Amino acid sequence: MQRIPVVSKKAVAGKRVLMRVDFDVAIEGGIIREDYRIRANMSSIELVLVAGGYPRLIAHMGRPGGARVDVLSMAHIGAYCEKILKRKVIFVRDPFNESARRRYQDSHEILLFENIRFWQGEEKNDRDFAYMLAEWGEAYINEAFANCHRAHASMDMLARILPAYAGLHLEKEIRNLGAVMKSPKRPFVAVLGGAKLETKLPLITRFVRRADAVLIGGALANTLLSARGFSMGKSTIERDAVLFSSPALKSKRIILPQDVIIVDTFERGSWPRVVAIDKVPQDVYVGDIGPKTIVHFSEILQKAAMIVWNGPLGYTELVQCREGTEKIAEVITKSAAFTLIGGGDSIAAVSRAKMLNKFSFVSTGGGAMLEFLAGKRLPGLEALKVTKKQ
Ligand code: 3PG
Repeated sequence: MQRIPVVSKKAVAGKRVLMRVDFDVAIEGGIIREDYRIRANMSSIELVLVAGGYPRLIAHMGRPGGARVDVLSMAHIGAYCEKILKRKVIFVRDPFNESARRRYQDSHEILLFENIRFWQGEEKNDRDFAYMLAEWGEAYINEAFANCHRAHASMDMLARILPAYAGLHLEKEIRNLGAVMKSPKRPFVAVLGGAKLETKLPLITRFVRRADAVLIGGALANTLLSARGFSMGKSTIERDAVLFSSPALKSKRIILPQDVIIVDTFERGSWPRVVAIDKVPQDVYVGDIGPKTIVHFSEILQKAAMIVWNGPLGYTELVQCREGTEKIAEVITKSAAFTLIGGGDSIAAVSRAKMLNKFSFVSTGGGAMLEFLAGKRLPGLEALKVTKKQ
């Protein structure tokens, strides 16, 4: 990795280190549903501790929009970190409060600040706000790849104020995702699902140029099939003539489902049936890719040397619509190819099927992974390139 300094023991030895971590995980009823993102931060935290440094963790959760929202408090995460790290973690409810700063400023314990998006200065990338944060440390580590596409104060401005480094996991993200685009092993197959054609079009455009095949399922496939004149029943379809006019979407490298699973409702008792792609009735929803599509996708994937996957291939919240995603995950994880997966929903679906640890690399990024692979510059990474000399 060129030009982005990576954290080392020497860089943080004996220092108070502001670490922008990524703890943006789904919590339901007080339970953390998937902790992959949290664990990805731990190697850098351990490194700082081993070097005799003092981590001050800055994180966000959800989109509170500059106001306090109790369900999005970091207080829920502190106890979880204590368990993983087997160390005391002090929760600092207001890092901008003078008496809190005096009290904890020189603490040798790990500090975890309240959700940084509770303050408006964060999303505004406010300079004074970043300077106030900077008073808590002598060095900065960015370990929040999933948030690197956001030009926020704790991602961008802060990295320009303090000597700044990429965390150990962030370095792996850049190395692995960089290799996918710079030197893909062939055949290189991309698998895309989920929704939001608008967000994914730049990536589809890049993949049709660089990959040997682009397999598309999920809501994304419904939209593309509808644009090609097939009825998708009552499924939500994105209708945007400008997007559809993109030449990339006409590429022969794009492989769409030939059959699908349909359901009457997205409810537990709903009865799933298989239909060919030109036989979807008007009064149903398309919930998953069908068995012929699974076979077709599998044949292509079995020949691949590199596979990148983002987005589930069906409505995986519903048990009847999980088979496509799980069967494809099985084929991918059994292949000898270099396999990379990213995106919150795909990770949740594959993790539920207990196959996440069989991928060569799991990216913590959702939007950030899409933007990185599409060739965009990410503000969080750019800031690390112009940081003060260490
Ligand atoms: C993510 O979950 O992808 C990152 O944490 C960014 O979150 P955001 O889309 O709310 O900015």
